[in-house]
Amino acid sequence: MDSILIRNVRAVDRQQDAVCDILLCDGKIKEIAPHLDAGADRVIDGTGLACLPGLFDMHVHFRDPGQTHKEDVNTGAAAALAGGVTGVLCMPNTTPPMDSPETVREFLGRAAKTGVEIHQTGTLTVGLKGEQLADYAALKAAGVTALSDDGRPVPTAEMMEQALAKAKAAGLPVVSHCEDLAIINGGIINKGAVSEKLGVKGMDRASEDSVTYRDLQAALRTGAQLHICHVSTRGSVDHVRQAKAQGGDVTCETAPHYFLLTDELLLKRDADYRMNPPLRTPDDVAAIREGILDGTIDCIITDHAPHTAAEKADFEKAPNGVVGLETSLAATLTAFYHTGLLSLQDIVRLMCDNPRRILHLPARTLAAGEPADLILVDLDREWTVDPDKLHSRSHNTVFKGMTFRGRVLMTVTGGIIRYELNDE
Ligand code: DOR
Ligand code: ZN
Ligand code: ZN
Repeated sequence: MDSILIRNVRAVDRQQDAVCDILLCDGKIKEIAPHLDAGADRVIDGTGLACLPGLFDMHVHFRDPGQTHKEDVNTGAAAALAGGVTGVLCMPNTTPPMDSPETVREFLGRAAKTGVEIHQTGTLTVGLKGEQLADYAALKAAGVTALSDDGRPVPTAEMMEQALAKAKAAGLPVVSHCEDLAIINGGIINKGAVSEKLGVKGMDRASEDSVTYRDLQAALRTGAQLHICHVSTRGSVDHVRQAKAQGGDVTCETAPHYFLLTDELLLKRDADYRMNPPLRTPDDVAAIREGILDGTIDCIITDHAPHTAAEKADFEKAPNGVVGLETSLAATLTAFYHTGLLSLQDIVRLMCDNPRRILHLPARTLAAGEPADLILVDLDREWTVDPDKLHSRSHNTVFKGMTFRGRVLMTVTGGIIRYELNDE
């Protein structure tokens, strides 16, 4: 296998932030030191660039099997690599859903060939129907890393408590999409001044807040491990903060759109700004940012949810969801690093270390002997998001036309360069 030497690069992981030379050989980091006397098949000048461990996004929808006109495992992996993401956790709302060992095994078999570390969630309930719990031990034996009914809420507190107890026995974390469909009642965007102005039904924040509280209480009662999906409201952040203070084995995530954007964007009547949970208010954005800064929010994910342009054409009838894998690091650097709010090590914690810890996966560092899964980033490079240049099969990005500071130049996994930015 080819060797790669990255010279004079700012290496950042949980243990270091220092300028180094890094030698990659046989799929591993062979050596890392302030100066290496070594040659390699390819020598890269890393002067002025940062090298981070590959990022891990624990909430993506690759639509495979069943909706591959939106995305498949290969286009999803290409989008991940272009965003500096070398590991993902796929949600189970595929067709068929990930409720059987056969479906899980078939997908993971294909996923293993992509160069991305792809993990799969099994469903909490059979067919995502919220009626009967799936066979968690069998799903675990087939290789799932966690359990979720993402895309659909578990309908009752009783069922969630049973799911948590059964997941605990199987040794799997539960990843919960918190929503009360009775409160949603057909709403399509955040309920508030904007939904009133547009004359469309709103999604009351009480839907998210109440089910987040319900599930956290069930986690506290059972002692099971619970991770709350895509937190978007002040209420949810407060509930998670409190459950952590009470000693719960609980964590949560948010996505860049929830700390950068508000529901004012919906005034454009463009379904590319619709996702579930929806964009909220400036006060929610402030609360999400506080939650990231005080450690209540453990990870930044994307909820990468590809939908075609045709599906997104009708503002009111379009499915919810936005792609995000190719913009998450740039959005996070722009919001938190370039504003001096977070260090690069903090960002590695949010986008690599914490998701891996939550999923009980081995940590990734830039140390000799570790897998060569790393990214090269030009922290200062500005670029404007052009939906047509995305690698995902779908282009429904909420960040279209926005300029970010920070760009992934190269992604390496298993010592192989899987993505390299072609200069436009
Ligand atoms: O916006 C969303 N898109 N939220 C979900 O819960 C599901 C997801 C999807 O699968 O499209
Ligand atoms: Zn969800
Ligand atoms: Zn999702």
